[in-house]
Amino acid sequence: MSETTEKKKVILSAIQPSGTITLGNYLGALRNWVKLQDEYNCIFAVADLHAITVRQEPKTFRQNILNAYALLLACGIDTDKSPVFIQSHVPTHAELAWILNCYTQFGELSRMTQFKDKSQKHSDNVNAGLFTYPVLMAADILLYQADMVPVGADQKQHLEIARKIAERFNGIYGTTFKIPEPYIAKVGARVMSLQDPTKKMSKSDENVNSWVAVLDKPDVIMKKFKRAVTDSEAVVRVGEGKDGINNLIGIMSAVTGKTAEEIETEFEGKGYGDFKTAVGEAVIETVKPIQNRFNDLLNNKDYLVEKYRSGAEFALKISSRTLDKAMKKIGFIAR
Ligand code: TRP
Repeated sequence: MSETTEKKKVILSAIQPSGTITLGNYLGALRNWVKLQDEYNCIFAVADLHAITVRQEPKTFRQNILNAYALLLACGIDTDKSPVFIQSHVPTHAELAWILNCYTQFGELSRMTQFKDKSQKHSDNVNAGLFTYPVLMAADILLYQADMVPVGADQKQHLEIARKIAERFNGIYGTTFKIPEPYIAKVGARVMSLQDPTKKMSKSDENVNSWVAVLDKPDVIMKKFKRAVTDSEAVVRVGEGKDGINNLIGIMSAVTGKTAEEIETEFEGKGYGDFKTAVGEAVIETVKPIQNRFNDLLNNKDYLVEKYRSGAEFALKISSRTLDKAMKKIGFIAR
């Protein structure tokens, strides 16, 4: 077998079309996905079905889905290497999710920390979709016989339940689904809030100065970095109790490729003001080409449509094989 035809492992991941991709999402996840494309068979999706567990305004939702799709490509996902599709365009996801619901226990889902958090946050709309959300995610993963799923800490429990559901199903019917492993990035930047650097950067943070979006305008990015919380030592070095500076050094290192030591040396004798400006500039340089490409893509709607259609076509073909196999095992009559 030549190297190119050798079976590469399958990696699957998805993002929700939430309207904002933060610098944390980019440096911690998306940027790594781009690097995985050569080594693995990657499949990426915009998880729009997951997004309606909270109420969406139709016009905004539609735009957010397209934006998320375009942003994946703008960040460097290459559809020639990795199919990218929109979850709702591929009906097998909802179908397998229903089936897997019947192999998932109420008790298991009740113990999901994200469900508990979200039902507290949206106590006026604790819908069944919010509850079975992890089952839909399991379907996303299992349909493609994914070997690995790159997951952040917040999604780890969801991957665990996907594994459990797959094992249970395989236990009853014989091997049907590949049991997915978490993919832990070798180098993944953990970007913290600019306002409370003990917390992870999150777009759901009420304080908009705590996060930077990949699509934020340069002056907004600069303003947010200038306001970043630091400490009173006024020395640019990594240290205990210097969460703010540690975070800024981490971001600087992630966007420039320089080590923390190199950054410390570079900013020896300089104040935090200079350093914050430099980090802001470096981040702006990093996101500028992404923003340009994003704008080009949105101005070329036909191209996007062509891409998401062919992505869905491919996804349907692959996922149907798994769905058919599972349905046959259960005893459904072939369509
Ligand atoms: N639940 C994930 C999130 O909110 C998104 C997601 C949906 C996903 N389906 C997936 C991630 C499958 C990995 C694999 O971030």
